[in-house]
Amino acid sequence: MLFPEGVAIDGRTGAVKPETGRYAKRLSELRGLFQDGDALERVVAEKSDPIVYEVVDYRKKESDLCFGTTIMSPGRVGNEYYMTRGHFHLRRECGEAYYTQSGEGVLLLESRTGESRVVEMLPGVCAFIPPEWAHRSINTGADKLVFVWFCATDAGHDYGEILKRGMRKIIIEQDGRRVVADNPNFGR
Ligand code: F6R
Ligand code: ZN
Repeated sequence: MLFPEGVAIDGRTGAVKPETGRYAKRLSELRGLFQDGDALERVVAEKSDPIVYEVVDYRKKESDLCFGTTIMSPGRVGNEYYMTRGHFHLRRECGEAYYTQSGEGVLLLESRTGESRVVEMLPGVCAFIPPEWAHRSINTGADKLVFVWFCATDAGHDYGEILKRGMRKIIIEQDGRRVVADNPNFGR
C-alpha cells in the first residue's frame, strides 16, 4: 500500500525530495534537434558537452499520478534556444500540466492536426497541455528554467514523430529578441 507524504520541491534548483529517479540530457544526445548541426558540434566542443536539461521525478508505479521537475540550462545553438526533445504521449487521452517556478521560457505545442500554439512559461503560470498536443519547452532566458510537471504515470512518451520531422515552428533569437518562426526544415 502507498502512504501519503509531502514532497519538497525547490523552485529555484528543481530539487525534489524524496525523488524516485532522474536523468540528464547532454547536448551531444540532442544531435539532429537543432537547425544548425555545425553550431551544435561547436558548442559541444567549447562547453564540454553541456547538460541541456535534467528531469527529476516522483513516480510510484502503483499510482496513476506522478510529478517531477525539469531543470533547463540557458543557452543557444546558433540562434536557437536550448530546448527539450518534445513528444506526444503514447496514451492519447493523457494531458499534462507544466507549472513554471523560475526562469522564463516558452512552451511550444503542436496538435496532431498541425496547429501550433505558444504558451509563455513564467513563474506562477501553470500551462495546460491537452491530450493530443505535442509539447516542447524552450529556455529563452538567461537563467535556469525550472518547472513542475504533473501527468499520468503511464502516459508514456512518443518521441518518434517529432524527432523525424521536427515541429512546424522554431523559437529563435533575432536582433536580441525572441521570435517564433516557421521551421524551414519541417518534414525534411
Ligand atoms: C512528461 C513531460 C516532461 C518532459 C521533460 C523532458 O510527460 O512532458 O517531464 O518529459 O520536460 O522533455 P522531453 O521528454 O520532451 O525530452
Ligand atoms: Zn509530456
